[in-house]
Amino acid sequence: MEIVRTIESYRELYTHLQHPIGLVPTLGGVHEGHLSLVDAAKKDCETIVSWLFLNPKQFGPNEDLNIYPAEEKEDVSLLEQRGVNILLIPTTTEIYPSDFDSVIKLGKITKLLEGSRRPGHFDGVTTIVSKMFNIIQPDRAYFGEKDAQQLRVIQKMVKDLNFPIEIVSSPTIRDSEGLALSSRNKYLSVAERHDATFLYQGLLKAKVCYELGERNSDIVRNIVIQELKKSSLISIDYVSLSDHQTLEEISGEISSPTLLSLAVHIGKTHLIDNVLLQ
Ligand code: PAF
Repeated sequence: MEIVRTIESYRELYTHLQHPIGLVPTLGGVHEGHLSLVDAAKKDCETIVSWLFLNPKQFGPNEDLNIYPAEEKEDVSLLEQRGVNILLIPTTTEIYPSDFDSVIKLGKITKLLEGSRRPGHFDGVTTIVSKMFNIIQPDRAYFGEKDAQQLRVIQKMVKDLNFPIEIVSSPTIRDSEGLALSSRNKYLSVAERHDATFLYQGLLKAKVCYELGERNSDIVRNIVIQELKKSSLISIDYVSLSDHQTLEEISGEISSPTLLSLAVHIGKTHLIDNVLLQ
């Protein structure tokens, strides 16, 4: 694996790369979820480029930027072992020079769900992802379904702004107890880690109920809420049933493919998860 740290050195390499180029981006804190994206990219791309950059612009002032569990050495070794060909690790000043003054801002979809709790978060994501797309120039870019809203925001941006890139999504990777893998799981204490399994259990119970024919959105939402309430460590940010593309909240009957998603705080840790009802 070749590691490059400047945009210029990536550009020099780029002219010699075999297409299709698949991009697997990460903030760091690499885990099996990211590595499953590398596996997916390897299936249909000649060159796998990964991007390792802890993007400050997608963290709010009271969020976990300063403690985010990104260990460069460990991340590099995991990505290399899994078969990444080129890894770009830019510095913050390379990406955001002192005169940097642009924002890529999408509309309504970025204000819902996570956007309503984390103002400005998706502006930070769309700005860095646009820059990353322009720098790396991949043919395909791989994102996990665990960050369902991020995936849809990026799909919308690619469509609205005509990026010539195919966005490929990969299923959420879970541990043996169903907890969705996330870099933030490292923050959880043993007790919090235990109770974090209620997230997926709640989603699964609701999904089973839906599959048995329940279409009342209040009832389906409530199944998840009741499961989360079993833990005194969990504080619910939202449990949402929304249109799976626009993410607009559904009330009444569920009649089309629907994203059942949730966000909670367990202690100080913000966790999200989702399943698709269809
Ligand atoms: O999902 C992430 O890890 C980040 O939001 C991304 C896409 C790498 C942008 O910084």
